[in-house]
Amino acid sequence: MVPSIENCRFSTHLPSRKTFRPEAVLIYDRRLERISPSLRYFIRQFKNRYGVKAGEPLKSLDNFPKHFSRISKIIGGVKKQEAQVIALGGGSVGDFAGFFASVYHRGIDFQQIPTTWLAAIDSAHGGKTALNSGEVKNQLGTFHFASKVYLVKSILKQQGQRLERQAFAEHIKHALLCRKPWAQIEKIGKSLEKSDLWTQLRESIAVKYSILKKDPKETKGIRSHLNLGHSMGHVFEILLDLSHGEAVAMGLIFTLKFSQKKVGLSENTCEQWCQLIVNTSIPRYEALQLRSQKELKLNRVKALLFKDKKESSRDGVGFVFLQAKGRPKKLNVNLQNLLSELKRQGFIR
Ligand SMILES: NC(=O)c1ccc[n+]([C@@H]2O[C@H](COP(=O)([O-])OP(=O)(O)OC[C@H]3O[C@@H](n4cnc5c(N)ncnc54)[C@H](O)[C@@H]3O)[C@@H](O)[C@H]2O)c1
Ligand SMILES: [Zn+2]
Repeated sequence: MVPSIENCRFSTHLPSRKTFRPEAVLIYDRRLERISPSLRYFIRQFKNRYGVKAGEPLKSLDNFPKHFSRISKIIGGVKKQEAQVIALGGGSVGDFAGFFASVYHRGIDFQQIPTTWLAAIDSAHGGKTALNSGEVKNQLGTFHFASKVYLVKSILKQQGQRLERQAFAEHIKHALLCRKPWAQIEKIGKSLEKSDLWTQLRESIAVKYSILKKDPKETKGIRSHLNLGHSMGHVFEILLDLSHGEAVAMGLIFTLKFSQKKVGLSENTCEQWCQLIVNTSIPRYEALQLRSQKELKLNRVKALLFKDKKESSRDGVGFVFLQAKGRPKKLNVNLQNLLSELKRQGFIR
């Protein structure tokens, strides 16, 4: 299956139960039943349903056999062609349910209804499913693309502005990976009220799909451009205990400044976008930079950069730079180089 934005459905309200197969199993975040009557009503319409507690333990490999046998029992004797898994929840539920759907009878139909901004803008698209092995996140996984992704305004908007703001960093990442100018995002400037993710969601997701189309299973080095801002973002996320959104925002700022030095990103573009990132996604940037000077320890940074085996080798780390808006470039950067850049930018002393 070729991932395509044509498989996304944008709507104000949840889809009708009849949209899905009669025997579909709904794997849902139990917390959602308490969040709104419309979600509770939607969930109860599925006779085959499996409620889970969202979060990283759900993705634990050790717990998977128990979940597998329970969900298999619910599916019962349904034929493979009629079986279907619907994930209703954030990224952890999508990763878990997608993994189940990909291994049950070697793969059954899978659809997603992301309920967090992070899932709606990123994790529900792209077919990556994942489980965690011990402490190692997403160590185990498959590619299994959702045949449909339903994006529901009333559900996403329930989360409030703080979470919407956090997801804005992923949105800016998409804007940076796109050559075409984005009038809306560039107009936002200092006016945070205009940072309405819903109105820009289609345009944002379209960038991810345009990359997925060229390299759906990460075999050509193109899909890894979606890691823009993430190599260092992950380090900030763990060592400074930030939300993923804030960490990616810091990672993007680091990347833009590094790109100016290393691959000739223009000063203008760099300053304009760094300012936009601070305004929309990380207003406490300066305070965090000061905290980082106190708390970031070289050996921990090193260990984390090398944890991602896929992107690192003895010679260094695969790092996605930006030459100009819409022109990412992945280069191997040696560790010393990265650490000196962290110093130059004032993240470590
Ligand atoms: N597969 C991918 O490509 C990909 C990409 C990025 C992240 N991820 C994964 O996604 C996960 C993080 O995503 P997440 O933050 O959505 O995870 P999550 O599923 O853990 O949700 C975060 C919290 O939000 C709550 N929640 C869900 N919907 C809500 C709603 N509408 N209103 C209020 N609260 C709600 C959940 O109960 C949970 O407490 C991680 O496991 C990460 O590894 C996967
Ligand atoms: Zn991310």
